[in-house]
Amino acid sequence: MKRVSEEIYSRIDNNIYNIDGDRWWHPDFSLNLLRTLYNPFRVGYAKKLFEQLIKINTEKLSALEVGCGGGILSEEIAKMGFITTGLDPSEQSLNIAIKHANDNNLKIKYEIGTGENLPFQKDSFDVVFCCDVLEHVHDLPKVISEISRVLKNRGIFIYDTFNRTHLSKISIINILQEWKRWAIMPANLHVWEMFIKPDEIRSLLEENHLEWKEHRGIKPGISYIKMLHYLHKRAIGELTYEEFGKKFLMVESRSTQIMYMGYAVKSFSL
Ligand SMILES: C[S@@+](CC[C@H](N)C(=O)[O-])C[C@H]1O[C@@H](n2cnc3c(N)ncnc32)[C@H](O)[C@@H]1O
Repeated sequence: MKRVSEEIYSRIDNNIYNIDGDRWWHPDFSLNLLRTLYNPFRVGYAKKLFEQLIKINTEKLSALEVGCGGGILSEEIAKMGFITTGLDPSEQSLNIAIKHANDNNLKIKYEIGTGENLPFQKDSFDVVFCCDVLEHVHDLPKVISEISRVLKNRGIFIYDTFNRTHLSKISIINILQEWKRWAIMPANLHVWEMFIKPDEIRSLLEENHLEWKEHRGIKPGISYIKMLHYLHKRAIGELTYEEFGKKFLMVESRSTQIMYMGYAVKSFSL
């Protein structure tokens, strides 16, 4: 797999993260969905992994979140006991993250930078998270190679992303971003061509000494009829993003057709 072409990359609007003001924690902005819609599933997945599968004590281990935005996931990582660092290219988002962590007495180190060029020494972290970010980056192979470089030997990489299928095109691009009756996201938030097939990420991981372990599908925890009903209510402003997210909880699915989460373990020091 190669980095995406300039033409495809020019279509994604990563500037949305540079808008002034709090677009992350405010209940009436779409980025807040990461908290209400995604956090319960992905934090639950990570906790289950650490407590039941890998059986590690997260207290005092170091974790990095690549593409942390306003800190919605980083704060949960810190609450799990990790010595936490969040990294993002958006200075505006980092300012929101720093303020929110300070207001909530959470000790998190935030740094500016991109996943393609991580400003850390090799073997720096026990765990790296990269959630809802891989489908936004210009050079995915470089990001994966950088994540592998900064992970310690036997360190864990946890990620989630969108699959590139007909179903993800209809649900994530057409329904959520384009078709006015239901669209609740900005039109260029995601570009379908930048979505990643599970086998593509698996190959990239293995090329970078990250031993792939599993993929779990993610789907809305309500019926498609109810989902469209709530989407429409949000699209016409009858529900805030926060209210919408709480009705629409994501759950594990056997199908990875739309969205999936997984992890890999670094198999030796590079
Ligand atoms: C959808 S947000 C996800 C934020 C956070 N991971 C979460 O799930 O709460 C995508 C984030 O990726 C960041 N991003 C975009 N390109 C990136 C890159 N090349 N390297 C690292 N982060 C990037 C954006 O600035 C934005 O904060």
